Amino acid sequence: MDINMAKESIHMDSARIITEDGFRLDRASETRFTVSNGCFAVRGTSEELYDNETPGTYVAGVFDKGNSAVTELVNLPYPFGMRIYIDREYVDLREWTVGFHRRELDMARGVLTREYAAADAKGRRLRVRTERLASMAKRYIGASRIVITCENFGGVVNVENFIDCNVYNLKNNPNERERHFAARTSADDNAARVICATKDGDYTVAIAVNAKTRSLAKAGCIGRYSRDFGNYAAVYDDFEVEEGAVIELERVTAFCSSREVSSDLTEKTVSGRLAEGLKTGWDKLLAEHVREMENLWERADITIDGDSEADKALRFCLYNLICSANPLDEEVSIGAKGLHGEGYKGHVFWDTELFMLPFFTYALPDYARALLSYRWHKLEGAKKNAEAGGYAGARYPWESADSGLEETPSWGFDYKRNKVRIWTGDIEIHITCDIAYAMREYVRASGDTEFLRERAAPVIFETARFWASRLEYDKERDLYDIKGVIGPDEFHEHIDNNAYTNTLARWNLRYAAELAAEYGAGSGVTDKEANIWVDVADKICVPRSGGLIEQYDGFFKKQDVLITEFDANQMPLWPEGVDITKLGKYQIVKQADVVMLMHLLGEEFTPEEMKENYIYYENRTMHKSSLGPSMYALMGARTGQHGKAYANFMRTVLTDIADNQGNTAHGIHAAAAGGAWCAVFYGFCGIGVDAAGNLVIDPWLPEKWNGITMNFHFLGRRLRLTVTHGEVKLERLSGPEGLTATVNGGAVEL
Ligand code: BGC
Repeated sequence: MDINMAKESIHMDSARIITEDGFRLDRASETRFTVSNGCFAVRGTSEELYDNETPGTYVAGVFDKGNSAVTELVNLPYPFGMRIYIDREYVDLREWTVGFHRRELDMARGVLTREYAAADAKGRRLRVRTERLASMAKRYIGASRIVITCENFGGVVNVENFIDCNVYNLKNNPNERERHFAARTSADDNAARVICATKDGDYTVAIAVNAKTRSLAKAGCIGRYSRDFGNYAAVYDDFEVEEGAVIELERVTAFCSSREVSSDLTEKTVSGRLAEGLKTGWDKLLAEHVREMENLWERADITIDGDSEADKALRFCLYNLICSANPLDEEVSIGAKGLHGEGYKGHVFWDTELFMLPFFTYALPDYARALLSYRWHKLEGAKKNAEAGGYAGARYPWESADSGLEETPSWGFDYKRNKVRIWTGDIEIHITCDIAYAMREYVRASGDTEFLRERAAPVIFETARFWASRLEYDKERDLYDIKGVIGPDEFHEHIDNNAYTNTLARWNLRYAAELAAEYGAGSGVTDKEANIWVDVADKICVPRSGGLIEQYDGFFKKQDVLITEFDANQMPLWPEGVDITKLGKYQIVKQADVVMLMHLLGEEFTPEEMKENYIYYENRTMHKSSLGPSMYALMGARTGQHGKAYANFMRTVLTDIADNQGNTAHGIHAAAAGGAWCAVFYGFCGIGVDAAGNLVIDPWLPEKWNGITMNFHFLGRRLRLTVTHGEVKLERLSGPEGLTATVNGGAVEL
């Protein structure tokens, strides 16, 4: 398939490097070149920070509502600011002639490099190289190295290292723009600092910055001073330079929030961290960060041999996932847009549990445990949500932030920018069984029975209680209905008996009943309650029409339209005549719904049913969510729809490289990234776990691929799987012997 790179300036010329050529100030690239370590993130805006850039600095878990409609991830002061002045004139690249400008994201090392050569009207030629990273070894530290070469001029070069508090959430949207903090800046020769207090008073964040000279050639430092402008704080170094001078600096940015220490200690702590970072120095900070990155890649990398575009794009997806999570912090999870932008306000959706979590579960299980623990910590909030709706147990919020309460905004816009009521927070309730499902998937793969007992079981019982109280009994049909919901396909609202929701709710109830005898006591589960769960689960209505699963009651009566036209990125175009303000009228769907269900609970469907449903729904899916293509890739591989599998895989892996949803500027599509991994693991490698808990491997490779190599964890072992067209090789790298797997239908002992 031919996918046009929407941004032809983005290359993937080496297996681990993403390159952008030209001086572009492109907002999608700000997202792509974010440096993040799951604790803090800074979007890839330039050091100078030009007016038309959208700076974004976020500390995971720091949310505020202020004057916004709902609580949002706070955009904090921009801490990577650095400007150069020559003989007191600002080097503004918009006015200079930029001969060369390149940014390179080295995914292997987790380092973003920017290099440019430019000349001004007076003919002065300057070359600058900066590197930046968000340390994986010390997650509260950002580090940079800056090399300035004065090619053909002498004089006084001033380097200003600054923190800029003139930032906003949703800067480019005057209706929703908000600054979520009051800032107190300070500066002296040791640092530029800011202490931010969020508007609602929940959080304090301290940021401190300082630079030190690494080396000078044909240059001398003639002074250091600092300035505090109230909304901007900076330290300055003056250098007297000769022609050909090279100034090399290193710079540390330290963070501390009241999520880690009490508010009054943030200032002192951040100063200590800054001093520690400067003492450690760039070389060591870089080395320890790279060591961590190498260790992460050793566990998480996948190689696709024979398709360099797919190989690199998949790695970019994995890179973004790795950089969005922090295994040391159980109180946060990954937002739909990573920590890379303000789309969806930093909120956490089912995207994390069903699309991203499988990657962490199998590649980085300690990360998965922390991410699932976030839901366990928010169980009280989920109980309050259920209670507020008049139900028992726990209902997880469709959009979640720091409280576990429902955070979905009530109003938004349709495809024609008409103001519309958003119902997802009220009725898109499948997230509750999705979370229970993800917990089982983690436990099944990791064998972490302590987590099952302490954290998963209470969640699974409380979510079952919610479902038991949410069901409505229809005496006449002797069936239970779940009415008035939204399923994964959000084009259809207020529907009854969504097959996806009902089948997973049934699974949730049955699984809770299964666990009750062993783990129920702590949650007060009695035999009677568990028996009720089994009885009601057996009578949940799941609409069907022969082999075809009806997405919900009455879906097949809607007007039928097929999708036949595609854009340059192979994304579907609206079929002619469809009124996009009344999508509920048609049998077209936003994203995988029935097809996603067949992936999650594959054992409940025959191969023929899977194929029939895949073909039916694939032709009617608009992919207006980036979540859809990965599921069609995965299920395409499993149902023998090979052309579709590969095409949808490329749509998924290229989501943010090609910006094929058109909104990469607002953050990465973290679920598409996770879904890409799912497509490789469950789809192409055909990995699953059977009813007895054994590993099953039944791969199919796209013709163009020579092979896939991936490492993963299963029940305390590290395994390496190599799949080629003729062979499947499963090796045990570490962990106990005695694992049996079914490979291509035959039992294999490792
Ligand atoms: C999708 C949801 C998804 C959300 C956040 C929506 O457009 O329909 O399934 O959870 O985006 O990514």
